[in-house]
Parts: sequence; C-alpha cells; structure tokens
Amino acid sequence: MKPIRKAVLPVAGFGTRVLPATKTIPKEMLPVFDRPAIQYVVDEALAAGIEHIVFVTGRNKGAIEDYFDTAYELETSLAAKNKTEILEAVQATCPVAGSMSFVRQQAPLGLGHAIWCARDIIGDEPFAILLPDVLVKAEPSCLAQMVAAYEETGSNIIAVEPVPEAEVNKYGVIDPAERSGNRIRMNGMVEKPPVDEAPSNLAITGRYILQGKIFDYLADQAAGAGGEIQLTDAMARLMATDEFYAVEYAGQSYDCGSKLGYLRANIAYALADAEHGAGARALLDGEFAA
Ligand code: G1P
Repeated sequence: MKPIRKAVLPVAGFGTRVLPATKTIPKEMLPVFDRPAIQYVVDEALAAGIEHIVFVTGRNKGAIEDYFDTAYELETSLAAKNKTEILEAVQATCPVAGSMSFVRQQAPLGLGHAIWCARDIIGDEPFAILLPDVLVKAEPSCLAQMVAAYEETGSNIIAVEPVPEAEVNKYGVIDPAERSGNRIRMNGMVEKPPVDEAPSNLAITGRYILQGKIFDYLADQAAGAGGEIQLTDAMARLMATDEFYAVEYAGQSYDCGSKLGYLRANIAYALADAEHGAGARALLDGEFAA
C-alpha cells in the first residue's frame, strides 16, 4: 500500500462570502486568533504525515506563497534586536525546502477542476485534499484519523459529519449504506442537494484521501451543481468501481468561509490557546456575557 505523502490545498477562490475583508488579502491569510487560517490546515496535514503540499492558487494569492518562505529582512531585524522568541515563531512557518508546490487554476471552474490542476504534481499515487475554508479541531487531527482508516483499508476515504437538516443544501451529502464503528459504506453522494432530496444529513467535511484514479474522472467531468465541475460528482463515479468509505471523524469543524463561522473559529482557537485562553474566557463571561 502506497503511503499518503502529498496533499492538495485549493486556495484559488475569491472569498466572496467574506468580502470586503478579502478584497486585497487572500481569505486563507485572514487570521484565526493568532495565525493565518491556512497555517492550521498546513499543520493538520503535516501532523498526518504529509511531506509535500500542492497549493492550487489563482491571481492575487501571492501572499500565501510569500508566507511560506523566508522573510529575510524581517528575520535579520528580529535577530539584531535579540527578539528570539518572535524570530523562532516566524521561522517555524517556513517549510522544509522543496516541500511545497504552487500551481495556478486560471479560471474558477469549480473544486473538481481545481484539484485536476494538481494532477501532474501528484502523479499516480493516493493523496489527500484539505479545503482550507474548513478548520477542524480534533485530536488526533481529522486527516490523521482518515490516514488511520486508509492504512486499514487502502481505499478512498472522505470525512463526514452530521449537519442540521435545513443546511444540507450547502454541502456534499452522502447516501449511507452500512456502518461499522465510525466507518460508513456508501451507496452514493450528491453535491448540494435540495433539502427535501438529500439522502442523509451526513455532509462532506472538506477532507479527502483519494487514489490517483480520480484524475481520470475529473478530466472529463461535466459541470454539476452551480454550473461548476464538482469533485463530489467525480467521486460518485469513482465509487461505482472502487472501494470508498466515509469516516465520521471525532472533532469539531469551523467554516471560515462565512462571517459567523469565521468568528466562531476565532473564539474557539482563542479559548484553546495556552497563554490567552483564560483571558478570552473572562472576556466572554464578562463584557460579552448575555
Ligand atoms: C465544498 C464541497 C462540498 C463540501 C464542502 C465542505 O463545497 O464541494 O462537497 O461539503 O466544500 O465545506 P463549497 O463549500 O466549496 O461550496
């Protein structure tokens, strides 16, 4: 069984739902408490054993590439002032040389198309996908839980979680067959079904482990929900021939693509912070108590 070494992070989206904050800043660079949202997702990937990250970027996303690089002037200045702790925090964001690739999606044709843009860099091996809009607080990390399931099955895996029935039309939704522990065999999956047609309330969380074969399906995938080339539609075709499981992971997700979801993530990560968690709690219970 081939190990999961590479992960694709699609970051080409405009961040329309959180404009005007994202007019000049990539949404992935907006801070969640004390670091850019993308940092949490990269950390989740690394914690699951990922060795190489492929960013599918677009115009005006250069800040992401710069963030994962040496900041020479800044680091020299911090070193000269003996600001060792801050310097170390800055240097910790710099990945191992050669462990990140950037490829452009030139047109917003959908998530499926974005992933297909990474095909040459991924090659013929199983890989992970992490959608950076979604932060997942979990121990072990969501992707690590999925890697554990992959190591037992060698199959395709998606993370799922229950969502309120009224919100199923915002997600990819699975049609569950039988369940064994947290592992679910599926009859199918559908992208953004109308609420009264959804096969369940188990939504796809934005974490995937897929075989390289998915690229064959993405290559000729027709546009689906919202007129976009959907990853879910290609996965539904792959599922017809190959083993595929959903894993209901243990943890909590935060959708940073919406304003309240983003605020919620900020509060959650502030409360969990070793240094500032108690202060954040005091703010909520005092000044912001109902
Ligand atoms: C994407 C996927 C969807 C998934 C969701 C998770 O949708 O297409 O299947 O449930 O992410 O956040 P998007 O939020 O990009 O519309």
